Amino acid sequence: MQITILAAGQGKRMNSRLPKVLQPIAGQAMLSHVLSTSRSLGPRTLCVVVGHGGDQVRAALAAPDIVWAEQAQQLGTGHAVQQAMPMLGDEGTVLVLYGDVPLIRAQTLRKLVEAAGSSRVALLTVNLADPSGYGRIVRNLNGQVVAIVEEKDASAEQKGIGEVNTGIMCVPASLLRGWLGRLQNNNAQAEYYLTDIIGMAVGDGVEVVTQQPAAEWEVLGVNNKAQLAELERIHQRNLADALLAQGVTLLDPARIDIRGELLCGRDVEIDVGCVFEGRVELADGARVGANCVLRNVKVGENTRIAPFCHFDGAEIGAGGVLGPYARLRPGTTLAEDVHVGNFVEIKNSQIAAHSKANHLSYLGDATIGSGVNIGAGTITCNYDGVNKSRTVIEDDVFIGSDTQLVAPVRVGKGATLGAGTTLTQDAPANALTISRARQLTLTDWQRPVKKKKD
Ligand code: UD1
Ligand code: CA
Repeated sequence: MQITILAAGQGKRMNSRLPKVLQPIAGQAMLSHVLSTSRSLGPRTLCVVVGHGGDQVRAALAAPDIVWAEQAQQLGTGHAVQQAMPMLGDEGTVLVLYGDVPLIRAQTLRKLVEAAGSSRVALLTVNLADPSGYGRIVRNLNGQVVAIVEEKDASAEQKGIGEVNTGIMCVPASLLRGWLGRLQNNNAQAEYYLTDIIGMAVGDGVEVVTQQPAAEWEVLGVNNKAQLAELERIHQRNLADALLAQGVTLLDPARIDIRGELLCGRDVEIDVGCVFEGRVELADGARVGANCVLRNVKVGENTRIAPFCHFDGAEIGAGGVLGPYARLRPGTTLAEDVHVGNFVEIKNSQIAAHSKANHLSYLGDATIGSGVNIGAGTITCNYDGVNKSRTVIEDDVFIGSDTQLVAPVRVGKGATLGAGTTLTQDAPANALTISRARQLTLTDWQRPVKKKKD
């Protein structure tokens, strides 16, 4: 079996510079969804027909297993498939898919390919309450398909047919090549219709069979942002349902967005408004509070994330307590039972077990031992405008509030830094280091007094 994906359309109604098939569903180009589904079927050849924004599409999705065909002018779906034919062999069948029908499922396509076998034409059709705009499936009295008639070419009686062409079909390759060569564009739209091959198949005595998708959303196409948004919701709901089925607690399955891969252990709980990007792993018992954004993050067992956290490129150990309003940036590794509180930003830092930074801090390029307490307002001054330098804080250190650690600097094991310290040299272990102007009281000082206007 070979696959061709039609992706030459402009998508004018998107009102966007991005070619239609690159518009995202769940953070990934629509075409990339169709490519993944295609690959799961293991086709011999995977040919994508591009036209409008073709260079952009190619650059975005280039892969060694894709052969590209160019349709410079969009003269119809039949013409589009014609452009793919030089890339395709005559053996087996050709499955025709669309870059703007992103939610089609592999299981549906497998059934369609099976139905086609080696010698039949298999059409994916669907019955719609409102079939307007679609090509209608015309059957004879025996129920056999005899033609597809486009809306614009349909008689009043044909317009009453509820069964429509989804566009997706599987056709024996050599027959397809012959039929495409015979296409004409003497129709209402002066286009080369792929759908005209059905009449030809019937004329040549080739059997035409139909299959229906399990769900209507599988065959929905996208022409504008409203339809894109609608499919995004359907797709997200499907992802949420899969998590529910697996035992994840979602406080509201309509209010979660997964733009990548979300892997959950047992008894994971996710509150409303969370966004997951890239690859996120939540281990057993992990809980994510409302309105968190997690991107490429690993969260350990029983870790609790309070609302409004933003984590990117971080690994969090078991039993952690994070947020609300915590920010973890790439290169952050937290061992078990680490607490990170509100308005704490951590970048490229490793924090060992049982350490806490509970309030208002910036920890960048730091190596922090275990049992460390970072006071409120602690800042690692890791950047001199040119170079990044590291701060090392050994085990059991206590850092008083409002401390600046001017890197490179090291705080020895068990050391205490007094509040307000600006540390510019290493602090020895097990001692109090403090840099703070001595407190002074002027008892005879007079506060200035405002003169009363008369
Ligand atoms: C087509 C079908 C119609 C079916 C409908 C389902 C034909 C003649 N009609 O209609 O029976 O009910 O899809 O949505 O096939 N494309 C190209 N190059 C072209 C023309 C189209 O790549 O020259 C691509 C489009 O980008 C789109 C797809 O093919 O992804 C369908 O094209 P569209 O113009 O939407 O087809 P319809 O006329 O709506
Ligand atoms: Ca259309």
